[in-house]
Amino acid sequence: MLKKWWQREVIYQIYPKSFNDSNHDGIGDIKGITQKLDYLKTLGITMVWICPVFKSPMADNGYDISDFYQLNPEFGDMEDLDELILEAKEKGIKIVLDLVINHTSDEHPWFQDLLENPKSSKYRDYYILKQGKEGQPPTNWRSVFGGSVWEPLEGTDEYYFHSFHVKQPDLNWENEHVRKELYEVVNYWLEKGIAGFRVDAITFIKKDQRFENLPADGVDGLGKCTKKTRNQPGIEKFLHELNRETFSKYNCVTIGEAPGVPYDQYGDYIGEDGYFSMIFDFKYADLDVASGSEWFRRTDWNVQELKRMIFKSQLEIQKVGWGANFLENHDQNRSLSKYIKEADNRNFYSATMLAALFINLRGTPFIYQGQEIGMTNFERESIEEFDDISSIDQYYRAMEEGFSAEEALHFMNLRSRDNSRTPFHWNSEENGGFSKKRPWLGMNENYTLINVEKQENDPNSILNFYKEIIKVRQSNEPLIYGEIEPLLENNSTVIAYKRRLQGEEIDCYFNFSSENQKVDIDLSCYDVLLNNYKGAAIPAQDFKLYPYQSLLLSKKGMVLS
Ligand code: NOJ
Repeated sequence: MLKKWWQREVIYQIYPKSFNDSNHDGIGDIKGITQKLDYLKTLGITMVWICPVFKSPMADNGYDISDFYQLNPEFGDMEDLDELILEAKEKGIKIVLDLVINHTSDEHPWFQDLLENPKSSKYRDYYILKQGKEGQPPTNWRSVFGGSVWEPLEGTDEYYFHSFHVKQPDLNWENEHVRKELYEVVNYWLEKGIAGFRVDAITFIKKDQRFENLPADGVDGLGKCTKKTRNQPGIEKFLHELNRETFSKYNCVTIGEAPGVPYDQYGDYIGEDGYFSMIFDFKYADLDVASGSEWFRRTDWNVQELKRMIFKSQLEIQKVGWGANFLENHDQNRSLSKYIKEADNRNFYSATMLAALFINLRGTPFIYQGQEIGMTNFERESIEEFDDISSIDQYYRAMEEGFSAEEALHFMNLRSRDNSRTPFHWNSEENGGFSKKRPWLGMNENYTLINVEKQENDPNSILNFYKEIIKVRQSNEPLIYGEIEPLLENNSTVIAYKRRLQGEEIDCYFNFSSENQKVDIDLSCYDVLLNNYKGAAIPAQDFKLYPYQSLLLSKKGMVLS
């Protein structure tokens, strides 16, 4: 594929509520991000994706927007955002915002008007309304955050539809006026000078219009709505139009959150004339659970399986376009806690091995706040300590499905989205230097051990190794634009691949185990580009990778860029 500017980026994801609190009200804010631009620059970041900062009652922490054109006052005002965009630009950092256009908040004026005038509102057709059937909701579909997708619309015998929470009514994309309103929103923000959008839940915008019942898949008698609401036939018309009316008019980057798309349709999404620059592939991120909305159905995965999934994803994407690689995000648990099964093995080596493995895959790397210092999951003692609506729902559903309260809590501790949403650890001071006030969500107690200040002062820290990984990627074009080719496919503990660009080759080896692993490499043919075992001897004979070693080797005699 032709080179594109956004292939070179290294993207840092910010969950604004938990990043840095400049006015000490316990909630992170936009000024707090501006204050930390130098930190991001030193890390090697070139672009920042900020989760929603728009006006919102925050039922789903901003993924429930009540005004697309205003910012939520707790995050700051438009001047703060303009200042952030400008200062970031001066430092060579681009800003990407989150575009949430599958649904609004129920506090959006359109929906409020509907509630006030349920029978006559001019916004009736902005949302999805249906008559119930004999006192029951129109279908038995379960929403992503639990319960029926249908909620009674007071004063009528109708229900409104929500794929996610009851406070997130879905917009009716079948209505062209809705689509036009949304395109104006997109163009307004792109005109403002942002680099692009991460596009939320975009595969949900088309619903199966037959609205037929599903076979029940739980004791609640409901069936997962995603079978009828995600990537449904006809979505291509909406996505083409969205792209034509907005993104295609700008030199912007678009990162689609597009779960539910089979690989044989990736070309439509990310091919040369695709709807987006890149999309996230969640298939391997959810390998420890049956699905992203059923954390209580755990799977027993192994490295071989993870490797198979990564390579499948990489090769399918390589056929048609470009991917977005991530270890963590605000909907996931912490990667060290997920991918490194034994707590004793969660250390500098495993954290940097995971980082080097993912950052050097073919695609644009995303780093989620705190990942670069090795933040971990946080164990809570009761469901009362959780904020995330989806964790609360899943806790009760797990018990409904027959698990004990203790087991249900255990599943939440493993998987809750709150694991990655705890406030950022800047230093060992109270509240980790995040805020002088008690933060909106409990701190992870290990902030005195794991924090930026400590790691900045330690040349052998995870943070400093992240800087090195990024530098190596950015200064070796094969690691950015090169083709990927799996190596050692049958090895059950080592993940390895080759990146190749116009005759230049870089071989990447990652020991995904706590034991030495013998690998057949003749080191005399290579230069070492990256190694997380600094100072340790690399034996020329009888070569072995150390536990969780990551090693990037470039073929000698090749011209490196
Ligand atoms: C995906 C977002 O990443 C998640 O945080 C949110 O809850 C849902 N979409 C609904 O907007």
